[in-house]
Amino acid sequence: MGQSALSIAVIGGDGIGPEVTAEALKVLRAALPDVELTTREFSLGAQHYLETGEILSDETMADIAKHDAIVLGAVGGDPSDKRLAGGIIERGLLLKLRFAFDHAVNLRPTKLHPAVKSPLEHPGDIDFVVVREGTEGPYVGNGGVLKQGTGSEIANELSVNTAVGVERVVRKAFEIAAQRRNKLTLVHKKNVLVHAGALWQRITDAVAAEYPQVEVDYLHVDAATIFFVTDPARFDVIVTDNLFGDILTDLAGAVGGGIGLAASANLNVDGTYPSMYEPVHGSAPDIAGTGKADPSAAILSIALLAEHQGFPEAAQRIRNAVDTEVTDRTGSRTTTEIGDAVVALLAEQ
Ligand code: IPM
Ligand code: MN
Repeated sequence: MGQSALSIAVIGGDGIGPEVTAEALKVLRAALPDVELTTREFSLGAQHYLETGEILSDETMADIAKHDAIVLGAVGGDPSDKRLAGGIIERGLLLKLRFAFDHAVNLRPTKLHPAVKSPLEHPGDIDFVVVREGTEGPYVGNGGVLKQGTGSEIANELSVNTAVGVERVVRKAFEIAAQRRNKLTLVHKKNVLVHAGALWQRITDAVAAEYPQVEVDYLHVDAATIFFVTDPARFDVIVTDNLFGDILTDLAGAVGGGIGLAASANLNVDGTYPSMYEPVHGSAPDIAGTGKADPSAAILSIALLAEHQGFPEAAQRIRNAVDTEVTDRTGSRTTTEIGDAVVALLAEQ
C-alpha cells in the first residue's frame, strides 16, 4: 500500500517537457484523490543553462533527493547550438541524476495498442518490457582522448560492468518476468565483448536457478534487432546493458507504434534515492507551445510512478484510461485535451 502523502520533484525541462509533465501530474492527482500530493518545480534544462549557467548544482541535487520521486519531462535544446555541444546537458543533467541517484534499472515497456498502427505489416501481439541497466556500461564516462586533433588521435570509452550492477538489474528482470509471462531474454554481444558478456551470462544463469518457472534465452544484440522487426511478439522481458538497452528501446518505441506512447522508469532499487519517471521522447522544440505534443508517454510514465510508489490499482486505472482515450481519439486533440480526456475517463471507472 502506498503512502498517504507523496512529494514529487518536477523537472519539466525544455521544449514540450513542461507541457506533457503538467498533464501527467493532473492525471496523477485525479488517480490518487486520497493522497496528499506535493510538487516542487525545478527549473533545469538547456534553456535554464543558457540563461543562468547552471546545469545541476550540488545544492539542487540535495533538494531533489529529499522527494519521494522525480518526474522529468524532457531536456535538451537545439542540437546545432554550439553552446550545448559535447552532450553537456545529457551528461551534466540527465545522466548525472541517473548515476547520482543510483537508477540501476531503466524500465521501458512496449505494448502495441490495438488502435495504433505499427510500421510493421504483421506486428503480432507486441507486449514486452526492456529492463535496461542504468548506471554502468560505456555511459560512465570512463575514457579519454590522446593526441586530439592529430592524425593519430586516440579516443577511448571504457564499458564498466560490475557484478553488483549486473546482478541487481538481472534480479529485477527475473522478478518482473515472474509476474508476467515467465520469459526472459538476455541480450548482449558475448561473442565479441567476451569479458562483460561472460559476467552477464554467468549472473543470469545464477539468478535463473532461483526462478525455475522462468524460461531463459540469449540473443546477440544484432540478432535481437532482427527479431524486433520480424517477430517482436516473441519477447516478454529483455534484460540488457545500458547502451544496448538505449538502442533497443528506440527500436521498441518505433515498432510499438511510436515514441508518443513510450514510457520509462529509472528505478533506484534499494530506496536510497528517489526514482525518476520520464517519457522516452525528447524535448521536440519544433512543436513546443503548439499544443501538438502527445502527453500519453508522460502519463504512462506517471502510471509507472504510481505502481512503484505502491498504488498498482491506480496505475492500472491510468493505463486503462490512456488505452480508452487512444482508442476513442478522433481527429487531432491538443495536449491539454488529451490530459482532460484521460482525467474524465478516470472518473468514469
Ligand atoms: C534515453 C536517451 C539518453 C540515453 C540520452 C539523452 C543521454 O537517449 O533516455 O534513452 O542515452 O540514455
Ligand atoms: Mn535513448
